[in-house]
Amino acid sequence: MIDASGIIAALRWQVEIGADEALSDLPTDWTRPAARPELRLPPGPVAPLRPTAAAAPSPDGGARVRAAAASSLAELAESLRCFEGCTLKQTAMNLVFADGNPNSAVMLVGEAPGEDEDRQGKPFVGASGRLLDRMLACIGLDRTSVYISNILPWRPPGNRSPTQAEIAACLPFIERHIELIDPRLLVFLGGTAAKTLLGRSEGITRLRGRWFDYQSPGLTRPVPALATYHPAYLLRSPIQKRDAWRDLLVLRRKIS
Ligand code: URA
Repeated sequence: MIDASGIIAALRWQVEIGADEALSDLPTDWTRPAARPELRLPPGPVAPLRPTAAAAPSPDGGARVRAAAASSLAELAESLRCFEGCTLKQTAMNLVFADGNPNSAVMLVGEAPGEDEDRQGKPFVGASGRLLDRMLACIGLDRTSVYISNILPWRPPGNRSPTQAEIAACLPFIERHIELIDPRLLVFLGGTAAKTLLGRSEGITRLRGRWFDYQSPGLTRPVPALATYHPAYLLRSPIQKRDAWRDLLVLRRKIS
């Protein structure tokens, strides 16, 4: 008879480290160099990823140069598809770029895709997305009147919190994303988005409900930015919906 205890222990270990999904029907031996993804460069004028004799390797994997070179949303999405500077890409099923109306005045930024978003390649389509849709509907908004993206375009395995290194690797892309959308108002959903994009160290409890000026070199003026609780947090702590409702009213007042 087969002793299943070793197999079960190995499976349990995989779940504990966040490898909770089969991404392919066939197993991949990632220890073989040939199994590692090829570096693919996007078309157009981008910095070389491999160091040349004259150029030192870019510490951010070329993210800033690549993001700055994108002059449209399509180019930015393509640039991310070709970007190899964030290891989350290797475990994610899909790039989750954005949803909603790119011409809308309001841009929402969340943290990172979860399981449903990773499967569908769209932000906020799972349980927290359904709550977000209901919250927006309360103030007369929906996905035709807002634009939604995330700090990270790939799902962290097992929905763990993103690391500072992962956030830093992808930051130039969301910053460029905001510049290309050029919204009239920004809403940061949760502490990761608020702290990262505002460069603040306080927690979301202190940051929420207040307007900040979001600045970026590619914007012609500072954009008013409101921080509020992440819908996933509201699902875990419904008592906080009262404050989230206050934040929605603050947003509605600014819009009208
Ligand atoms: N949480 C996020 O921050 N973003 C999503 O897209 C989904 C859940």
